[in-house]
Order: sequence, then C-alpha cells, then structure tokens
Amino acid sequence: MARVGVLTSGGDCPGLNAVIRALVRRGERHWGDELIGFHDGWVGVIEGRHQPLDVEVMRGFLTRGGTMLGTSRVHPWLTEDGAERARATLAEVDVDALVVIGGEGSLAIAYRAQVEGLVPVVGVPKTIDNDIPCTDQTFGFDTAVSVATEAIDRLHTTAESHDRVMVVEVMGRHVGHIATWAGIAGGATVTLVPEHPFEIEAVAEIVRRRHERGRFASIVVVAEGARPAPGSLEFPEPEVDRFGHKRLGGIGSAVAVEIERRTGYETRVTVLGHVQRGGSPTAYDRVLSSRYGTAAIDAVHEGGLGDMVALKGGLISRVPLADVVGRIKPVHEQVWDTANSLFEAPLGQF
Ligand code: F6P
Repeated sequence: MARVGVLTSGGDCPGLNAVIRALVRRGERHWGDELIGFHDGWVGVIEGRHQPLDVEVMRGFLTRGGTMLGTSRVHPWLTEDGAERARATLAEVDVDALVVIGGEGSLAIAYRAQVEGLVPVVGVPKTIDNDIPCTDQTFGFDTAVSVATEAIDRLHTTAESHDRVMVVEVMGRHVGHIATWAGIAGGATVTLVPEHPFEIEAVAEIVRRRHERGRFASIVVVAEGARPAPGSLEFPEPEVDRFGHKRLGGIGSAVAVEIERRTGYETRVTVLGHVQRGGSPTAYDRVLSSRYGTAAIDAVHEGGLGDMVALKGGLISRVPLADVVGRIKPVHEQVWDTANSLFEAPLGQF
C-alpha cells in the first residue's frame, strides 16, 4: 500500500484520462493504494490543490479527451519559491511517489524532481507529437494521425472538384511523425517535416509535374515545425511564450502562397491545430493509455522509481528517465523512406 500522487503536465492529449483511470483502478484494487490527483500540473503541487481519486471518481473517463485534473506548463524551478512550496505540499500530503504524465518538458521536470529529492517519480510518455525517445509510441499520437488522415481524405474530394492544391498544416513542433504518418495514410503528394528542411522550388516542381501529367488535387502536408532550407523561402522565427514555448503556426500559409505564386495553381490552406488534440482517443490509444497507466503504478511498487514506462516491440517495459530527457525522437529513416517513395516524386530529386 502506498500514497501515490498523479499529475498531468504540458499540452493536453487524448488518453490522459484513460491513463489516470487505469492507474487508479490498478492501484486501488491490486496494490491497495491511495491515489491523489494534483490539479493543473505542477501548479497543484506548488499551491496545494489536489483531490482524492478512486474507482468511483474515475467512472466514465476512459473515453473522454482532455484531462480531468487540468494541466499547465508551470515549472516549479521557474516559479518563485516553486520548488520549496512543492516540497512542502508533497510532505504535507505525504505521497510516497508521484506519477507524472507529460511530454519532453514535463518529463525533464519529473527527472529533476527525482534527482533533487523532491519526490520519487514515474514518468508516462504523453504527446500527440510522438517525439519522446526510448518508446516506440506515445499515447495520443494514433488519435492525432486518425484526425489528420480523415481531414486529408475530406480535402481530397474538394481539391479534385476544383483542381486545387491543398496545403494541410498539422502539429509536430520538433519532428514530423504526425505529418509523415498522415501523409502516408492520406496519400499526400508531398510531406514537409522539421527533420528535412525543404526547397520550396522542389515542392512547386512536384506539384507542377503532377498537374502537367493531367493529375490534379495535390495534397501537401506540412508539419508546423517544418522549415525551408536556407535561401529557399523567408520565414520569420516564431514568438516565444512566458514558458519559453515557441508559438508555432503559419508555415502552411507561407508554403501555400508560394506554391500558388510559382505554379499558378489555385492553392488553399487548412490548419488542423488543436482539433488533433481534442476529443475522444481512438481504441488503440485507449488501450495504450490503459497499459501505460497500469505499468506506471506497478513501477511504483516494483523498483521503477526514476523510470518512464515505455512501449518496446509491442510490450510495455521501463527505461530510466535519465536516458529520455534532453532528447527528441525523429521520424525513423525507414518510415521516411517509405513516405518518400510514395510521394509524387522524392523530395530530394530536384
Ligand atoms: O503537445 C505538443 C503540441 O501539440 C505541439 O505539436 C504544438 O506545437 C503544441 O502542442 C501547441 O500547444 P499549445 O497551443 O497548447 O501551446
């Protein structure tokens, strides 16, 4: 039996509630634990805002998007007296361990909390962007790819009717997992990702050649973090918010304007934005989140403090947070090669 805290931190993500539900069920029924949910990420720990969680409280949350605990990007070490206040709350609430469900930034904070003796932690890899290393997949990614793919399917028919180029901007700040997967699934003409700076003229040429061959309805998928190669297209650096988080967006419009200018084909842009993050998780994400949740509470009892739960070759395992933090997982070359060979022409060809 243990007293285990849980918080959700960073951008929300489909499956957060399913993770919390699973760890509460497993914790209460299997380990006899008491679960405490902190509100709004680290804010709840700093300000002492929390609630008891049990099986009854969590009923109905498996299928719900968002997070019933609330979330924020607040960082205890970047908040005045934040770490001391967090330490005081954790002592008062008397938690034996804290499960942190978060992305790269939140897992780095969790690791620091562990190293500095604030509280023993277990991390759960969350983000629609799928950019956390040491795990095959984060929960939320499958849902985001499904939403983006459905949008591309819909854009195909309207693009065909008007003989237009459709640019679809999807999320993916550091790397282009959503863009690559949705690009493959939706049969994109070309996909632009942060890992590979693009030549705008190469993109225009691919669209031009396709239309000249009598094909129309080109779909160009652009990850929000994709950037032109130096000298290819001017694009301003985004603003940074008070958490040091870049406000991305706008690359899709810049690409669309330039394609139309260079090819003469009418071009429209759709920015999917937070639609990819909201709403109910897919069946796959409900299962993955449930597996992560049960594994996280097991980790608390089975020597996994300081670890992150991970998916490896279809099975759940654990990796030290020390191996995870400070790194980003790019799209694997094998997947990128597959995408590239299905595009109208490989991007590097021109
Ligand atoms: O969770 C990651 C992410 O989805 C990024 O792809 C995106 O840039 C970011 O969140 C946007 O988050 P927010 O609008 O909440 O700052």
